[in-house]
Formats: sequence, structure tokens, C-alpha cells
Amino acid sequence: MVHYDEITKTFHLKTKDASYVFCVGKAGHLQHLYFGARIEGTLNADQLAPSWPMAPGNQTMYSEDHSTLSLNLIGLEMATYGKGDYREPTIHMESDEGYRTFDFIYQSHDILHKYHFEGMPQSHKQETLQVTLFDAHHEVTCKLNYSLDHTTNTIIRNLEVINGQATNLTLDKCLSMNLDFPDADFDVVTYHGAWLRERHEHSHRLGPGVYKIDSKKGSSSNDHNPFIALKRHDAGETLGEVYGVTLVYSGNFEANIECSPHRLTRLNMGINSFDFKWRLAPKERFVTPEVWLTYSNQGLNGLSQHVHRFASTHLLEPQKERPIMFNNWEATYFDFKEATLLKLARQAKRLGMEGFCVDDGWFGRRDDDRSSLGDWWSHPKKHPKGIAHFAKKIKKMGLLFGLWVEPEMISEDSDLYKAHPDWVMHYPKGSIALGRHQWVLDLSKDEVVDYLYNTLSHLFKEADVDYVKWDMNRHFSDLFSRGAKPIDQGKLAHRYVLGLYQLLHRLKETFKDVLFESCSSGGNRFDYGMHAFMPQAWTSDNTDAFERLKIQQGTLRAYPLSTLSNHVSASPSHQVIRQTPIDTRFNVACFGVLGYELDLRRLSPFDRKQIKRQTAFYKRHRTLLQFGTLYQSKRDHDWLFWIVNDAQTEALWGLFKGLNTPNPPIEYVSIDGLKPSANYHVTAREQAENLRRFGDLVKHALPIPLKAHGTLFNQLANHVLFKTETEDIILSGSQIKHPGIRLKTPFMGSGYHEALRVMPDFASRLYNIREVNDGQSSNDST
Ligand code: DGJ
Repeated sequence: MVHYDEITKTFHLKTKDASYVFCVGKAGHLQHLYFGARIEGTLNADQLAPSWPMAPGNQTMYSEDHSTLSLNLIGLEMATYGKGDYREPTIHMESDEGYRTFDFIYQSHDILHKYHFEGMPQSHKQETLQVTLFDAHHEVTCKLNYSLDHTTNTIIRNLEVINGQATNLTLDKCLSMNLDFPDADFDVVTYHGAWLRERHEHSHRLGPGVYKIDSKKGSSSNDHNPFIALKRHDAGETLGEVYGVTLVYSGNFEANIECSPHRLTRLNMGINSFDFKWRLAPKERFVTPEVWLTYSNQGLNGLSQHVHRFASTHLLEPQKERPIMFNNWEATYFDFKEATLLKLARQAKRLGMEGFCVDDGWFGRRDDDRSSLGDWWSHPKKHPKGIAHFAKKIKKMGLLFGLWVEPEMISEDSDLYKAHPDWVMHYPKGSIALGRHQWVLDLSKDEVVDYLYNTLSHLFKEADVDYVKWDMNRHFSDLFSRGAKPIDQGKLAHRYVLGLYQLLHRLKETFKDVLFESCSSGGNRFDYGMHAFMPQAWTSDNTDAFERLKIQQGTLRAYPLSTLSNHVSASPSHQVIRQTPIDTRFNVACFGVLGYELDLRRLSPFDRKQIKRQTAFYKRHRTLLQFGTLYQSKRDHDWLFWIVNDAQTEALWGLFKGLNTPNPPIEYVSIDGLKPSANYHVTAREQAENLRRFGDLVKHALPIPLKAHGTLFNQLANHVLFKTETEDIILSGSQIKHPGIRLKTPFMGSGYHEALRVMPDFASRLYNIREVNDGQSSNDST
């Protein structure tokens, strides 16, 4: 709800729990007054605005008429440089005459219905408040857009700059929004990483100066994710005030969090101003991508839930259950023939998987990563009768067919490069920097986008694909667009993203029922710009269950379960050579969209049995695991994730151990989100330990004395499932929260008993919590 007070010229944007207030300031600037807990009753805007009866010392005053107003000391909805505000500006530009001072003054405002801008993905909006600001000296207009989502306390913002003068205007910084706070009592929470360790959560106390995160890599990248939380010092997982800022963009971005000398906090975010120069001819307009500002008074879990819900209802495709895919990458890498893939596919079907995706290596002459990107037709040795023929065989088995492509790239050794060397993004002096032996196609060119659309459409139709894994395995370098004017070279990085969005939009229009999964050397481009077209993304190339906990924990802060594609892979892990039990690998991967990518031909009978049970369990709980409400918490070495359904009648809860604690205390685990007075039945998913894990200790657990690692022992280990402890507890929702569920006593090193909870390093459990009516119990543990 937007309320405008004519007298005080104040805008009060109200959502369920939040108020966002700004006004037309004394000199006409759009002055930010407040963002936080909802203000009820009459708003006293004057109290929110700082005021100075006399000029504060050593500040630049706005004008003779406003001799006590310093733009450096007030909150602003949009900030420029040149009139005394020395903090990070939102936009910066230059006229042909060399003028760089711009001063935007309120002109008017309007309510727009279904505001939509061209070229970039965005949320669906009902009503938008558009405030028009004008710089009269240069006839430049700036439109600030605000839409609200009541239930998730989200304010959606972006801005537009329109050049009204008769000469050119060059933007060298044009962020999407500015957000000022009157204090600096925040922790800054960001999500950093690199290949194999994406989006690890990092938190630090905001201190004086500017803290910047960005990407210059061409994609949003795994260096920093375009999502930030500002958290009050006392806020935790479920309590306290937290603000989230999410940018819907897949290219170079920046976010600045500044604590000024007067302890004012400024946060702004948008397209990276580094290497950005956008010339606007007379009458041209530049539109920035969307940012979501989300408020929660229920800690980081509350914030995540709001962002997840908003994204799911306003940006992502309607919630449709996702299949369990098998992917051959870690099973074969490039080394496969059609016969191998068919064997894997048959196994996948037997084990309960629902689709088969052929990863890298099926096309051109690609036997390693040095050739063929761009040649999107079947590799004659691998698929002698063509990929469409192979796809038919897969479908005949009752599996969906998926195909890996990396359309934005080109290999030097490819037919495409021979035909179109000028389509490569590179400046024509010297050799081009390589990433995985490949180059980037210049998607700022319409002809490249058209070519890719036509080639991929043909391929997807011919192979009748159900699923596409869209990869992108290197960062930009040698930035130059051949044929573009020198003055337009600074547009390249953003134009590339616009070209990519256009391509994806056209493909999605043509292939409405195909499920696209985004990927970029693992999770190198995990953002809502991509999610708007591809509802799920490959979270990381690191499929080690323990490392994956850190990655999923950070990713799940901003992205809902349905966006994370997680696969069970081999042990020892190919990324960290760590051994983890097959059940832990599943228990981690099932928080999101489950898949498998280990060599199914070489599974032990033990693993085969477990995988069959896992896929069956996942199918039964799929809706909850993909679309439920997520909570998370971390204590000591343990990780806890749980998911509750909308009706609060069912929850699944995962307990993950890092290293085992010797002689551990009795554990109570507190779970939030259930109905306090309803009764619930708590059971543990039936899991099994591999006897081999226990070595000689096995003689204490088995009724017969057995020599570890002997022939009989190995036989038994393959066939006997050593079941983990059961749980069978009835508790009310309030007792599940306080003091929590008392789990079976943990193993203490002093002997084995079947009622002990034996959890060696990297062990985990999955518990089912289901509402029961009096006397009735449920069991969904298998
Ligand atoms: C990187 C991806 O993250 C992997 O899953 C795999 O598809 C390879 N690329 C193939 O080249």
C-alpha cells in the first residue's frame, strides 16, 4: 500500500511488517526517511527527518537558500556527486560538454499498472509508484520505480535515466537503487567463494569506510553472489531485524556498503560501473535491473523465507515437480560410447531415476575440452546414428531425455570458428586469453543470438529434449566487440547479458515444456536473472556431502529449495577425496532437486539397495523437499536444516554431523514452524551403515564373532543392512520447539547397544515429523 501525504509530501509504503518512508525534501530532493518495522497510526515525518538549526561544521551546504542542508548528512533515494554528498553515488554521468554535476529534483509521481521494462527478467508486479526527478540544467530525467509485495515485506526497485537534451549523455555509473540508514549498527552478511566452494556465508561488523563486492567476470560469478543481508547485531536465525538486498541480474555487478564518518549507512547495488560506459543519444533511455529490498523481524530464517516466497510467486515458473535426473559427467567424463550410456541409463531406471542427461562430449569431435564448442551436432563415433536416435532409446526406457550444451562458448578448433572468427569476443591485438581452452562468443551481436537460437531450436526439436543443462565455463577477457563503434565498446558487458536474455527468452517461448537447468563451472552464475528462465541451477561441481552443506547453507539463504540442483556422487569424492556414507550423500542432496551422477555400473550391492530406497523416499516427499518452507541452524559441528509444509502438518528435518564428538552430551533439537498445540509423530528415516565402516568393532555389534575384512565379512557387508536406530516419539509442536526433541543417546565409545545413536564422522539422519490425531500414529521412515 502506498500512501502519499500532500501536505508533508511524504510517501509511506507499507507492507505486512515494514514501513518504507521518503519525502520530497526542502530543496526538492527525494529524501529517504525510514525503512524498518511498520509504523502504525499517524506518521510524524518531521521526526524522521534530521534537521540542523545551523550549518554543521566543515560540510558543503546545498545553496544559499538552503544554507543548513548538507546532502552528505541526509538519506537519499538516489544520490549523485557534485552537490556535497561525498558518499558512493547511485549514478554518475557526463554530458558532451564535460559536465559531471547533476542534481535531480522531484517533478511528479504516478501509479502505474503492471509496470514492465524490456530486455531483462523481472518480477510480476501489480502496481508501481513511479517518481519522476528532473535535472533542469541538463534536461535529464530519472524515474525511480517502487512496487510492493505485502506478505513478504518486499520493495521492488529499479530506475531509468532519460536523456532529454539535444546532445549525448554518457553514463559511467548507473546502479539500480540507493538505500540509506541513519545508523550503522549492522553486520554485513555476504556470500563468497570460488569454484568448488561457492556461496559460503560470511558475516562481519560494518565499520567505517566502503565495503564493496562485485564481479568483473562477465557473469554474476562465484566470487560474490548478488545478494546481501544487513543484520542487526542481535539478530539471529529466528529473531531480530534483517534486511535483504537481491539483484536480478546475471552479469557484472557491484554493491557498496558504506559507513560514513557520521555513522550513516549507505547500500547501493546494480550493474558494475567498472568498465561500463553507456552513451545515451538524445531521447534515449537506460533502464537498470531490478533489486528486491526485503525486511524481516524474524532473523535470517524469516528473511530467507520471504525472499524464497517472493521469488517463487513473482519470478520463478509456476511450481512444477522436478524429476530425479541421472547425469553421466562424474561417471564417465568425456570417455564414453553410446553403449556405456545405455548401460548407465538402464541402471538409472532400475534404481528409480526419472531422466538421463548426456553431459559434455556428445557433439562435434569433442573427446576433451580442447575442441568443438559451437558445433552442436552429434559426435559420429559416440552416437553413430545421431543424438536423436539415442534420445529415442532413452525415452523408450521410460526416462526423460536431457542434453548438455554450452552455447555461449566457442573452441578455436571448431567449424563455427572457421566460419565466423569475428564472432569471438576479443580485441584484435595479440592472442586471446583462454579459460578451459575456450573463448566467449560475442552475444552483443544480433547475428550471434539469431544463429544460436536457430541452431539450438533445431537440435532441441530433433532430439525432442525434455531437459537442458546450459553450461558456461569461463569468464570474460579481451573485451572488445568487433564492428562496434569505439564509443560503444563500454556497453559490451551489459549488451552481452541483454543478448543472452533475449536468446533465453526466445528459446523458452519455443520450448515451454522443457526444463532448463543453469550451470556455470558448477554454481558460477547462480542468480535470479538466470532463474527467471531456468528454474533450477547446478549448485556446485563440489558434490562432496560435507562441503556441500556449506554451499547449500549459503545458497539457501537467498534461493529456494526448488532452485538447487544437487547430485549424489561417488565416494571418495572427486573434488576433495573424502569418504562419506551413501545415506549422508542422499540426505544432503535431497534438500532441493535430487539427482545422481556416479558410475552406476560399479555400485556395491549395499549402495544399490540404499539408492533404490532413497529415490522411493524422495518421490514420496518430493513436494515438501522441493517447495516446502525452509529453516536452518548451525550449532557446534552440527548442521540442521528442516522443511515444513504450508499446512504445518508435516516436516522433514536433517541432522548433519561434521567430525564426531567423543563422549557427547544428550541432545535436544529444537524445531520451529509447527503448530504449537498439534501433536506430531517423529520417526527417523530408515538408514543403514555399511559394516565395513566399523572394522574390528563389528564383533561387538553382530551376534556372531567375525574377522573384519575376511571373505565372509565382505559378503555380509554387501548384503546385510546394519540398520541405524529408530525413533518413535509423539510430541506437541510447542514441545518440539521447547525444549526440543530428545534424540536417542549418542554412542559414547564404551560399547554398542541398539538403542544408541551411532554417528561416526560425516554421518547424518533425516527425520519425518507428521501431525497425528489422538491415538493415531504414522510411519514414513523407509
Ligand atoms: C562444468 C559443469 O559444472 C559440470 O557439471 C560439467 O557439466 C562440466 N562443465 C562439463 O564440461
